[in-house]
Amino acid sequence: MADHSVEITEGCRLPVLRKNQVNEDEWPLAEILSVKDIQGKKLYYVHYIDFNKRLDEWVTPDRLDIKKLQFPKKEAKTPMKDGLPGSRPSSPERDVKRKAESVSLATQVTAATPVPSLPSSAEASQASVYPAMRDSSFSIKSRDEHEPLTSLTTNGTTSIQRHLIPPQPGRKRKSCGGTDEDSQDSSDGIPSAPRMTGSLVSDRSHDDIVTRMKNIDCIELGRHRLKPWYFSPYPQELTSLLILYLCEFCLKYLKSLKCLQRHLTKCNLRHPPGNEIYRKGTISFFEIDGRKNKAYSQNLCLLAKCFLDHKTLYYDTDPFLFYVMTEYDSKGFHIVGYFSKEKESTEDYNVACILTLPPYQRRGYGKLLIEFSYELSKVEGKTGTPEKPLSDLGLLSYRSYWSQTILEILMDLKSENGERPQITINEISEITSVKKEDVISTLQYLNLINYYKGQYILTLSEDIVEGHERAMQKRHLRIDPKCLHFTPKDWSKRGKW
Ligand code: ACO
Ligand code: ZN
Repeated sequence: MADHSVEITEGCRLPVLRKNQVNEDEWPLAEILSVKDIQGKKLYYVHYIDFNKRLDEWVTPDRLDIKKLQFPKKEAKTPMKDGLPGSRPSSPERDVKRKAESVSLATQVTAATPVPSLPSSAEASQASVYPAMRDSSFSIKSRDEHEPLTSLTTNGTTSIQRHLIPPQPGRKRKSCGGTDEDSQDSSDGIPSAPRMTGSLVSDRSHDDIVTRMKNIDCIELGRHRLKPWYFSPYPQELTSLLILYLCEFCLKYLKSLKCLQRHLTKCNLRHPPGNEIYRKGTISFFEIDGRKNKAYSQNLCLLAKCFLDHKTLYYDTDPFLFYVMTEYDSKGFHIVGYFSKEKESTEDYNVACILTLPPYQRRGYGKLLIEFSYELSKVEGKTGTPEKPLSDLGLLSYRSYWSQTILEILMDLKSENGERPQITINEISEITSVKKEDVISTLQYLNLINYYKGQYILTLSEDIVEGHERAMQKRHLRIDPKCLHFTPKDWSKRGKW
Protein backbone atom coordinates (compact mmCIF):
# COMPACT_ATOMS: atom_id res chain seq x y z
CA MET A 1 0.00 0.00 0.00
CA ALA A 2 2.97 2.34 0.42
CA ASP A 3 3.53 4.75 -2.43
CA HIS A 4 7.26 4.97 -2.92
CA SER A 5 7.12 8.45 -4.46
CA VAL A 6 6.30 9.95 -1.04
CA GLU A 7 8.82 9.84 1.73
CA ILE A 8 7.35 8.66 5.00
CA THR A 9 9.45 10.12 7.75
CA GLU A 10 9.50 10.18 11.53
CA GLY A 11 6.58 12.12 12.92
CA CYS A 12 4.24 11.32 10.00
CA ARG A 13 0.86 9.89 10.93
CA LEU A 14 -1.26 7.51 8.92
CA PRO A 15 -3.56 4.52 9.40
CA VAL A 16 -1.66 1.26 9.86
CA LEU A 17 -3.07 -2.22 9.53
CA ARG A 18 -3.08 -4.36 12.66
CA LYS A 19 -5.04 -7.26 14.07
CA ASN A 20 -7.28 -6.50 16.99
CA GLN A 21 -7.87 -8.77 20.01
CA VAL A 22 -10.27 -10.96 18.08
CA ASN A 23 -7.90 -11.19 15.13
CA GLU A 24 -9.82 -8.83 12.89
CA ASP A 25 -8.14 -6.25 10.66
CA GLU A 26 -8.28 -2.66 11.80
CA TRP A 27 -6.60 0.55 10.65
CA PRO A 28 -5.89 2.74 13.66
CA LEU A 29 -4.00 6.00 13.25
CA ALA A 30 -0.32 5.57 14.05
CA GLU A 31 2.77 7.73 14.24
CA ILE A 32 6.02 6.79 12.59
CA LEU A 33 8.69 6.80 15.28
CA SER A 34 11.55 5.41 13.23
CA VAL A 35 12.41 4.19 9.75
CA LYS A 36 15.08 1.67 8.86
CA ASP A 37 16.34 0.24 5.65
CA ILE A 38 17.30 -3.42 5.57
CA GLN A 39 18.83 -4.45 2.26
CA GLY A 40 16.75 -1.94 0.35
CA LYS A 41 13.55 -2.85 2.21
CA LYS A 42 12.01 -0.20 4.44
CA LEU A 43 10.64 -0.97 7.88
CA TYR A 44 8.66 1.50 9.96
CA TYR A 45 8.45 1.58 13.76
CA VAL A 46 4.92 2.71 14.57
CA HIS A 47 3.10 3.85 17.67
CA TYR A 48 -0.67 3.41 17.50
CA ILE A 49 -1.99 6.72 18.77
CA ASP A 50 -4.81 5.46 20.98
CA PHE A 51 -3.04 2.36 22.18
CA ASN A 52 -0.53 1.50 24.85
CA LYS A 53 3.09 1.80 23.81
CA ARG A 54 3.62 -1.91 24.37
CA LEU A 55 1.83 -2.51 21.05
CA ASP A 56 4.37 -0.40 19.11
CA GLU A 57 6.05 -2.46 16.41
CA TRP A 58 8.05 -2.59 13.19
CA VAL A 59 5.79 -2.89 10.15
CA THR A 60 6.34 -3.41 6.46
CA PRO A 61 5.23 -0.74 3.93
CA ASP A 62 2.23 -2.76 2.76
CA ARG A 63 0.58 -2.12 6.13
CA LEU A 64 0.63 1.67 5.71
CA ASP A 65 -2.39 3.52 4.28
CA ILE A 66 -0.37 6.13 2.43
CA LYS A 67 -3.47 7.83 1.00
CA LYS A 68 -4.20 9.23 4.44
CA LEU A 69 -0.67 10.29 5.25
CA GLN A 70 -0.38 13.36 7.51
CA PHE A 71 2.93 15.15 7.64
CA PRO A 72 4.23 16.35 10.99
CA LYS A 73 3.28 19.89 11.87
CA LYS A 74 6.45 21.92 12.22
CA GLU A 75 5.38 24.20 15.04
CA ALA A 76 3.73 21.54 17.19
CA LYS A 77 6.79 19.44 17.74
CA THR A 78 6.01 15.94 18.84
CA PRO A 79 7.17 15.30 22.36
CA MET A 80 9.62 12.49 22.25
CA LYS A 81 8.85 10.47 25.34
CA ASP A 82 5.67 8.65 26.22
CA GLY A 83 3.88 11.96 26.08
CA LEU A 84 3.01 11.40 22.46
CA PRO A 85 0.12 13.71 21.76
CA GLY A 86 -3.12 11.83 21.84
CA SER A 87 -1.48 8.59 22.85
CA ARG A 88 -3.13 6.99 25.76
CA PRO A 89 -2.50 4.01 27.94
CA SER A 90 -5.14 1.38 27.57
CA SER A 91 -6.98 -1.28 29.47
CA PRO A 92 -5.74 -3.38 27.94
CA GLU A 93 -6.16 -2.07 24.44
CA ARG A 94 -7.47 1.44 24.78
CA ASP A 95 -9.42 3.05 27.50
CA VAL A 96 -8.27 4.98 30.53
CA LYS A 97 -8.27 8.72 29.93
CA ARG A 98 -4.87 10.29 29.95
CA LYS A 99 -4.24 13.02 32.47
CA ALA A 100 -4.24 16.37 30.81
CA GLU A 101 -0.71 17.27 31.64
CA SER A 102 2.45 17.63 29.74
CA VAL A 103 4.89 16.36 32.33
CA SER A 104 6.85 13.79 30.47
CA LEU A 105 7.82 11.56 33.35
CA ALA A 106 4.41 10.95 34.79
CA THR A 107 2.17 10.52 31.84
CA GLN A 108 0.38 7.33 32.71
CA VAL A 109 -2.88 6.97 34.56
CA THR A 110 -3.20 7.79 38.20
CA ALA A 111 -5.03 5.69 40.72
CA ALA A 112 -8.01 7.94 40.67
CA THR A 113 -9.84 8.15 37.43
CA PRO A 114 -12.29 11.02 37.55
CA VAL A 115 -14.75 10.35 40.32
CA PRO A 116 -17.80 12.24 41.44
CA SER A 117 -17.05 14.78 44.10
CA LEU A 118 -17.16 13.46 47.61
CA PRO A 119 -19.50 14.46 50.38
CA SER A 120 -18.29 17.15 52.68
CA SER A 121 -17.00 16.02 56.04
CA ALA A 122 -19.99 17.39 57.95
CA GLU A 123 -22.44 15.52 55.76
CA ALA A 124 -20.42 12.38 55.71
CA SER A 125 -20.27 12.18 59.42
CA GLN A 126 -23.93 11.30 59.69
CA ALA A 127 -24.44 8.65 57.11
CA SER A 128 -27.29 6.17 57.13
CA VAL A 129 -30.05 4.93 54.78
CA TYR A 130 -32.33 2.11 53.72
CA PRO A 131 -31.76 -0.82 51.47
CA ALA A 132 -33.58 -1.41 48.25
CA MET A 133 -35.52 -4.69 48.53
CA ARG A 134 -32.92 -7.44 48.70
CA ASP A 135 -30.02 -5.03 48.59
CA SER A 136 -27.84 -4.71 51.62
CA SER A 137 -27.01 -1.31 52.92
CA PHE A 138 -24.58 0.00 55.46
CA SER A 139 -24.25 3.28 57.21
CA ILE A 140 -20.96 4.99 56.79
CA LYS A 141 -20.18 6.64 60.04
CA SER A 142 -17.31 8.93 60.49
CA ARG A 143 -15.30 8.25 63.59
CA ASP A 144 -13.74 11.64 63.29
CA GLU A 145 -16.24 14.43 62.82
CA HIS A 146 -13.65 16.37 60.91
CA GLU A 147 -12.53 13.59 58.65
CA PRO A 148 -11.69 15.56 55.51
CA LEU A 149 -13.46 13.31 53.07
CA THR A 150 -13.37 15.76 50.22
CA SER A 151 -9.63 15.86 50.23
CA LEU A 152 -9.28 12.15 50.01
CA THR A 153 -9.18 11.64 46.30
CA THR A 154 -6.26 9.63 45.08
CA ASN A 155 -5.10 11.75 42.26
CA GLY A 156 -1.49 12.07 43.30
CA THR A 157 0.66 12.30 40.26
CA THR A 158 3.92 12.99 41.97
CA SER A 159 6.49 10.38 41.44
CA ILE A 160 9.65 10.29 43.43
CA GLN A 161 12.65 11.19 41.44
CA ARG A 162 15.21 8.54 41.74
CA HIS A 163 18.79 9.28 41.04
CA LEU A 164 21.14 7.11 39.23
CA ILE A 165 24.50 6.25 40.52
CA PRO A 166 27.00 5.90 37.74
CA PRO A 167 27.57 2.32 36.71
CA GLN A 168 30.72 0.71 37.96
CA PRO A 169 33.50 0.70 35.42
CA GLY A 170 33.50 -2.65 33.66
CA ARG A 171 35.99 -5.19 34.79
CA LYS A 172 37.58 -7.16 32.01
CA ARG A 173 36.90 -10.84 32.35
CA LYS A 174 37.51 -13.87 30.30
CA SER A 175 34.92 -15.25 27.85
CA CYS A 176 31.38 -15.34 29.25
CA GLY A 177 32.01 -13.90 32.65
CA GLY A 178 32.03 -15.27 36.14
CA THR A 179 29.48 -15.42 38.87
CA ASP A 180 30.57 -12.80 41.31
CA GLU A 181 27.80 -11.08 43.19
CA ASP A 182 28.78 -7.49 42.67
CA SER A 183 28.75 -6.90 38.99
CA GLN A 184 27.31 -8.13 35.78
CA ASP A 185 30.48 -9.38 34.20
CA SER A 186 31.54 -8.40 30.78
CA SER A 187 32.29 -10.89 28.14
CA ASP A 188 33.87 -10.43 24.77
CA GLY A 189 33.69 -6.69 24.92
CA ILE A 190 30.17 -6.59 26.27
CA PRO A 191 29.94 -3.69 28.67
CA SER A 192 29.68 -4.94 32.21
CA ALA A 193 27.29 -2.22 33.27
CA PRO A 194 23.95 -1.30 31.81
CA ARG A 195 23.85 1.99 29.98
CA MET A 196 22.89 5.23 31.63
CA THR A 197 20.10 6.12 29.28
CA GLY A 198 16.60 5.05 29.99
CA SER A 199 16.38 6.73 33.28
CA LEU A 200 16.65 10.03 35.00
CA VAL A 201 19.62 11.34 33.18
CA SER A 202 20.06 15.03 32.59
CA ASP A 203 19.94 14.99 28.82
CA ARG A 204 16.36 13.92 28.33
CA SER A 205 16.36 14.51 24.58
CA HIS A 206 18.87 11.79 23.91
CA ASP A 207 17.15 9.61 26.44
CA ASP A 208 13.85 10.05 24.67
CA ILE A 209 15.10 9.11 21.25
CA VAL A 210 16.66 5.96 22.61
CA THR A 211 14.05 4.91 25.07
CA ARG A 212 10.85 5.32 23.14
CA MET A 213 11.51 2.14 21.21
CA LYS A 214 11.76 -1.43 22.37
CA ASN A 215 15.37 -2.47 22.12
CA ILE A 216 15.41 -6.13 23.13
CA ASP A 217 13.64 -8.56 20.87
CA CYS A 218 13.42 -11.64 23.00
CA ILE A 219 14.58 -12.82 26.43
CA GLU A 220 15.02 -16.44 27.36
CA LEU A 221 14.43 -16.97 31.06
CA GLY A 222 14.38 -20.58 32.18
CA ARG A 223 11.76 -22.37 30.12
CA HIS A 224 10.14 -19.11 28.98
CA ARG A 225 10.72 -16.81 26.04
CA LEU A 226 9.61 -13.28 26.82
CA LYS A 227 8.89 -10.55 24.30
CA PRO A 228 9.66 -7.20 25.96
CA TRP A 229 7.02 -4.47 25.83
CA TYR A 230 9.25 -1.43 26.41
CA PHE A 231 12.81 -0.19 26.33
CA SER A 232 15.21 -1.43 28.99
CA PRO A 233 18.77 -0.12 29.31
CA TYR A 234 20.63 -3.37 28.79
CA PRO A 235 24.04 -2.71 27.24
CA GLN A 236 23.69 -1.49 23.67
CA GLU A 237 25.71 -4.39 22.27
CA LEU A 238 23.08 -6.82 23.44
CA THR A 239 20.26 -5.14 21.57
CA SER A 240 21.22 -6.64 18.25
CA LEU A 241 20.91 -10.21 19.57
CA LEU A 242 18.00 -12.32 18.46
CA ILE A 243 17.76 -13.69 22.00
CA LEU A 244 19.15 -12.36 25.24
CA TYR A 245 19.73 -15.16 27.75
CA LEU A 246 19.10 -14.70 31.46
CA CYS A 247 20.01 -17.05 34.27
CA GLU A 248 16.57 -17.56 35.75
CA PHE A 249 17.94 -17.73 39.31
CA CYS A 250 20.47 -14.87 39.55
CA LEU A 251 19.02 -12.96 36.55
CA LYS A 252 22.45 -12.35 35.08
CA TYR A 253 22.27 -11.55 31.35
CA LEU A 254 24.35 -13.43 28.82
CA LYS A 255 24.77 -13.02 25.11
CA SER A 256 24.46 -16.63 24.01
CA LEU A 257 23.19 -20.03 25.01
CA LYS A 258 26.76 -21.23 25.28
CA CYS A 259 27.58 -18.48 27.74
CA LEU A 260 24.44 -19.27 29.72
CA GLN A 261 25.34 -22.97 29.87
CA ARG A 262 28.82 -22.13 31.08
CA HIS A 263 27.33 -19.77 33.65
CA LEU A 264 24.93 -22.44 34.90
CA THR A 265 27.80 -24.80 35.65
CA LYS A 266 29.09 -22.18 38.08
CA CYS A 267 25.92 -20.55 39.38
CA ASN A 268 24.71 -22.37 42.45
CA LEU A 269 21.54 -20.39 43.02
CA ARG A 270 18.29 -22.27 42.64
CA HIS A 271 16.20 -19.54 44.23
CA PRO A 272 16.43 -15.77 44.54
CA PRO A 273 18.94 -14.55 47.10
CA GLY A 274 17.69 -13.18 50.43
CA ASN A 275 15.33 -14.72 52.97
CA GLU A 276 12.37 -16.86 52.18
CA ILE A 277 9.70 -15.18 54.29
CA TYR A 278 6.64 -17.02 53.00
CA ARG A 279 5.92 -20.49 51.74
CA LYS A 280 2.62 -22.19 51.10
CA GLY A 281 2.37 -25.08 48.70
CA THR A 282 4.64 -24.24 45.79
CA ILE A 283 4.46 -20.47 46.25
CA SER A 284 7.29 -18.71 48.09
CA PHE A 285 8.27 -15.10 48.65
CA PHE A 286 11.88 -14.01 49.08
CA GLU A 287 12.83 -10.70 50.66
CA ILE A 288 15.89 -9.18 49.03
CA ASP A 289 17.72 -6.14 50.30
CA GLY A 290 18.68 -3.83 47.43
CA ARG A 291 21.87 -2.90 49.24
CA LYS A 292 23.00 -6.38 50.20
CA ASN A 293 22.12 -8.01 46.89
CA LYS A 294 22.82 -5.20 44.51
CA ALA A 295 23.66 -7.23 41.42
CA TYR A 296 20.51 -9.30 41.70
CA SER A 297 18.38 -6.23 42.38
CA GLN A 298 19.80 -4.34 39.41
CA ASN A 299 19.30 -7.29 37.12
CA LEU A 300 15.73 -7.61 38.36
CA CYS A 301 15.14 -3.91 37.59
CA LEU A 302 16.53 -4.36 34.08
CA LEU A 303 14.23 -7.30 33.45
CA ALA A 304 11.25 -5.50 34.99
CA LYS A 305 11.84 -2.38 32.90
CA CYS A 306 11.05 -4.47 29.81
CA PHE A 307 7.45 -4.54 31.03
CA LEU A 308 7.18 -1.28 32.96
CA ASP A 309 6.93 1.84 30.90
CA HIS A 310 6.39 4.63 33.30
CA LYS A 311 8.60 3.96 36.24
CA THR A 312 12.09 5.23 36.52
CA LEU A 313 14.70 2.59 36.55
CA TYR A 314 16.98 2.90 39.49
CA TYR A 315 20.40 1.46 39.72
CA ASP A 316 20.56 2.83 43.20
CA THR A 317 18.73 -0.11 44.65
CA ASP A 318 19.95 0.53 48.20
CA PRO A 319 16.75 2.22 49.44
CA PHE A 320 14.56 -0.69 48.30
CA LEU A 321 13.48 -4.13 49.34
CA PHE A 322 12.43 -6.56 46.64
CA TYR A 323 9.81 -9.22 47.26
CA VAL A 324 10.17 -11.93 44.66
CA MET A 325 7.42 -14.51 44.29
CA THR A 326 8.45 -17.93 43.04
CA GLU A 327 6.85 -21.20 42.09
CA TYR A 328 8.72 -24.32 43.13
CA ASP A 329 9.40 -27.49 41.15
CA SER A 330 12.13 -30.10 41.22
CA LYS A 331 14.47 -27.75 39.33
CA GLY A 332 14.16 -24.87 41.75
CA PHE A 333 12.22 -21.75 42.71
CA HIS A 334 11.16 -20.06 39.48
CA ILE A 335 10.47 -16.33 39.46
CA VAL A 336 6.85 -15.49 38.71
CA GLY A 337 6.76 -11.83 39.67
CA TYR A 338 7.89 -9.30 42.23
CA PHE A 339 7.28 -5.96 43.79
CA SER A 340 9.72 -3.45 45.15
CA LYS A 341 9.18 -1.36 48.23
CA GLU A 342 11.01 1.59 49.69
CA LYS A 343 12.57 0.85 53.05
CA GLU A 344 11.16 4.15 54.24
CA SER A 345 8.29 5.93 52.54
CA THR A 346 7.06 9.31 53.63
CA GLU A 347 4.03 8.87 51.37
CA ASP A 348 2.85 5.55 52.75
CA TYR A 349 3.85 3.71 49.61
CA ASN A 350 3.89 0.00 50.24
CA VAL A 351 4.74 -0.89 46.64
CA ALA A 352 7.03 0.97 44.25
CA CYS A 353 6.89 -1.26 41.17
CA ILE A 354 4.97 -4.48 40.70
CA LEU A 355 5.20 -7.03 37.94
CA THR A 356 3.92 -10.43 36.97
CA LEU A 357 6.09 -11.86 34.21
CA PRO A 358 4.00 -12.18 31.03
CA PRO A 359 3.83 -16.01 30.92
CA TYR A 360 2.15 -15.92 34.32
CA GLN A 361 -0.15 -12.95 33.78
CA ARG A 362 -3.95 -13.05 34.08
CA ARG A 363 -3.87 -16.06 36.37
CA GLY A 364 -4.31 -14.25 39.67
CA TYR A 365 -0.63 -13.81 40.56
CA GLY A 366 -0.85 -10.02 40.32
CA LYS A 367 -3.55 -9.91 42.95
CA LEU A 368 -1.55 -12.38 45.03
CA LEU A 369 1.42 -10.00 44.95
CA ILE A 370 -0.85 -7.11 45.89
CA GLU A 371 -2.43 -9.13 48.70
CA PHE A 372 1.04 -9.97 49.98
CA SER A 373 2.05 -6.30 49.96
CA TYR A 374 -0.93 -5.48 52.18
CA GLU A 375 -0.18 -8.42 54.50
CA LEU A 376 3.26 -6.87 55.05
CA SER A 377 1.60 -3.53 55.82
CA LYS A 378 -0.71 -5.27 58.30
CA VAL A 379 2.28 -6.71 60.15
CA GLU A 380 3.86 -3.25 60.12
CA GLY A 381 0.63 -1.83 61.53
CA LYS A 382 0.38 0.69 58.70
CA THR A 383 -1.86 1.48 55.79
CA GLY A 384 -0.25 1.60 52.39
CA THR A 385 -0.80 2.54 48.78
CA PRO A 386 1.03 1.81 45.54
CA GLU A 387 3.35 4.46 44.17
CA LYS A 388 1.74 6.65 41.51
CA PRO A 389 1.28 6.81 38.63
CA LEU A 390 -0.19 3.37 38.13
CA SER A 391 -0.02 1.77 34.71
CA ASP A 392 -3.25 0.80 32.96
CA LEU A 393 -2.87 -2.84 34.00
CA GLY A 394 -1.74 -1.78 37.47
CA LEU A 395 -4.91 0.24 37.91
CA LEU A 396 -7.10 -2.65 36.74
CA SER A 397 -5.42 -5.03 39.15
CA TYR A 398 -5.51 -2.71 42.15
CA ARG A 399 -9.12 -1.77 41.47
CA SER A 400 -10.06 -5.40 41.34
CA TYR A 401 -8.12 -6.16 44.54
CA TRP A 402 -9.52 -3.18 46.44
CA SER A 403 -13.08 -3.90 45.31
CA GLN A 404 -12.93 -7.52 46.36
CA THR A 405 -11.21 -6.72 49.65
CA ILE A 406 -13.73 -4.05 50.63
CA LEU A 407 -16.75 -6.05 49.49
CA GLU A 408 -15.47 -9.01 51.50
CA ILE A 409 -15.52 -6.84 54.63
CA LEU A 410 -18.89 -5.26 53.94
CA MET A 411 -20.54 -8.58 53.25
CA ASP A 412 -19.17 -10.07 56.45
CA LEU A 413 -20.68 -7.31 58.58
CA LYS A 414 -23.45 -8.49 60.86
CA SER A 415 -26.32 -6.27 61.85
CA GLU A 416 -26.81 -5.64 65.54
CA ASN A 417 -30.27 -5.36 67.12
CA GLY A 418 -31.85 -5.32 63.70
CA GLU A 419 -29.99 -2.12 62.82
CA ARG A 420 -28.09 -1.72 59.63
CA PRO A 421 -24.45 -2.59 60.14
CA GLN A 422 -22.20 0.41 60.49
CA ILE A 423 -18.60 0.89 59.55
CA THR A 424 -16.32 3.88 59.03
CA ILE A 425 -13.91 4.45 56.19
CA ASN A 426 -11.20 4.44 58.84
CA GLU A 427 -12.25 1.02 60.07
CA ILE A 428 -12.21 -0.43 56.55
CA SER A 429 -8.78 1.08 56.09
CA GLU A 430 -7.45 -0.30 59.38
CA ILE A 431 -8.75 -3.82 58.77
CA THR A 432 -7.40 -4.02 55.23
CA SER A 433 -4.33 -1.73 55.45
CA VAL A 434 -5.66 -0.11 52.28
CA LYS A 435 -5.07 3.62 52.52
CA LYS A 436 -8.23 5.67 53.12
CA GLU A 437 -8.04 7.46 49.77
CA ASP A 438 -8.09 4.14 47.96
CA VAL A 439 -11.04 2.88 50.04
CA ILE A 440 -13.01 5.98 49.11
CA SER A 441 -12.10 5.90 45.43
CA THR A 442 -13.11 2.23 45.32
CA LEU A 443 -16.46 2.86 46.99
CA GLN A 444 -17.06 5.60 44.44
CA TYR A 445 -15.88 3.47 41.56
CA LEU A 446 -18.27 0.73 42.62
CA ASN A 447 -20.95 3.40 42.94
CA LEU A 448 -21.95 2.14 46.37
CA ILE A 449 -22.34 5.48 48.11
CA ASN A 450 -25.84 6.90 48.30
CA TYR A 451 -27.20 9.91 50.09
CA TYR A 452 -30.51 9.50 51.84
CA LYS A 453 -32.23 11.61 54.48
CA GLY A 454 -29.09 13.39 55.49
CA GLN A 455 -26.99 10.29 55.76
CA TYR A 456 -24.51 8.45 53.57
CA ILE A 457 -25.09 4.77 53.16
CA LEU A 458 -23.53 2.03 51.12
CA THR A 459 -26.01 0.05 49.09
CA LEU A 460 -24.99 -3.35 47.82
CA SER A 461 -27.20 -4.26 44.91
CA GLU A 462 -27.96 -7.84 44.03
CA ASP A 463 -25.76 -7.48 40.97
CA ILE A 464 -22.79 -6.37 43.05
CA VAL A 465 -23.27 -9.17 45.57
CA GLU A 466 -23.62 -11.85 42.92
CA GLY A 467 -20.75 -10.48 40.86
CA HIS A 468 -18.55 -10.47 43.93
CA GLU A 469 -19.48 -14.02 44.89
CA ARG A 470 -18.75 -15.25 41.39
CA ALA A 471 -15.39 -13.46 41.34
CA MET A 472 -14.41 -14.85 44.74
CA GLN A 473 -15.16 -18.40 43.63
CA LYS A 474 -12.62 -17.92 40.87
CA ARG A 475 -10.00 -16.41 43.17
CA HIS A 476 -8.12 -19.53 44.17
CA LEU A 477 -4.74 -18.01 44.87
CA ARG A 478 -4.74 -16.40 48.31
CA ILE A 479 -2.10 -15.43 50.84
CA ASP A 480 -2.26 -17.39 54.08
CA PRO A 481 -1.02 -14.98 56.78
CA LYS A 482 -0.05 -17.96 58.96
CA CYS A 483 2.68 -18.82 56.45
CA LEU A 484 4.25 -15.36 56.59
CA HIS A 485 7.38 -15.09 58.70
CA PHE A 486 8.19 -11.44 58.60
CA THR A 487 9.56 -9.05 61.15
CA PRO A 488 9.53 -5.47 59.95
CA LYS A 489 12.67 -3.44 60.48
CA ASP A 490 12.62 0.16 61.56
CA TRP A 491 14.84 1.57 58.85
CA SER A 492 14.70 5.07 60.29
CA LYS A 493 16.67 3.83 63.30
CA ARG A 494 19.47 2.51 61.14
CA GLY A 495 21.99 5.17 60.30
CA LYS A 496 22.21 3.88 56.80
CA TRP A 497 20.27 1.21 54.94
N1 ACO B 1 -6.64 -7.06 30.26
C1 ACO B 1 -7.74 -6.90 31.03
N2 ACO B 1 -7.74 -7.11 32.36
C2 ACO B 1 -6.57 -7.46 32.92
C3 ACO B 1 -5.38 -7.62 32.18
C4 ACO B 1 -5.45 -7.41 30.79
N3 ACO B 1 -4.38 -7.57 30.02
N4 ACO B 1 -4.40 -7.98 33.01
C5 ACO B 1 -4.93 -8.05 34.25
N5 ACO B 1 -6.24 -7.72 34.18
C6 ACO B 1 -7.19 -7.69 35.29
C7 ACO B 1 -7.68 -9.09 35.54
O1 ACO B 1 -8.83 -9.36 34.82
C8 ACO B 1 -7.88 -9.10 37.03
O2 ACO B 1 -9.13 -8.58 37.37
P1 ACO B 1 -10.36 -9.57 37.72
O3 ACO B 1 -9.83 -10.65 38.59
O4 ACO B 1 -11.30 -8.64 38.42
O5 ACO B 1 -10.83 -10.05 36.41
C9 ACO B 1 -6.89 -8.10 37.55
O6 ACO B 1 -6.51 -7.29 36.45
C10 ACO B 1 -5.68 -8.76 38.16
O7 ACO B 1 -5.32 -9.87 37.40
P2 ACO B 1 -4.15 -10.84 37.88
O8 ACO B 1 -4.17 -12.06 37.04
O9 ACO B 1 -4.20 -11.01 39.35
O10 ACO B 1 -2.90 -9.90 37.55
P3 ACO B 1 -1.61 -10.25 36.69
O11 ACO B 1 -0.89 -11.42 37.26
O12 ACO B 1 -1.94 -10.28 35.26
O13 ACO B 1 -0.71 -8.98 37.03
C11 ACO B 1 0.06 -6.78 36.66
C12 ACO B 1 -1.16 -7.65 36.95
C13 ACO B 1 1.10 -6.98 37.76
C14 ACO B 1 -0.35 -5.31 36.65
C15 ACO B 1 0.61 -7.22 35.28
O14 ACO B 1 -0.31 -6.87 34.29
C16 ACO B 1 1.94 -6.61 34.93
O15 ACO B 1 2.97 -7.05 35.41
N6 ACO B 1 1.93 -5.60 34.05
C17 ACO B 1 3.15 -4.95 33.59
C18 ACO B 1 3.78 -4.11 34.67
C19 ACO B 1 2.80 -3.14 35.28
O16 ACO B 1 2.08 -2.42 34.58
N7 ACO B 1 2.80 -3.08 36.61
C20 ACO B 1 1.98 -2.17 37.40
C21 ACO B 1 2.61 -0.81 37.38
S1 ACO B 1 1.94 0.23 38.63
C22 ACO B 1 3.01 0.02 39.95
O17 ACO B 1 4.05 -0.51 39.74
C23 ACO B 1 2.61 0.48 41.32
ZN1 ZN C 1 22.96 -17.52 37.72
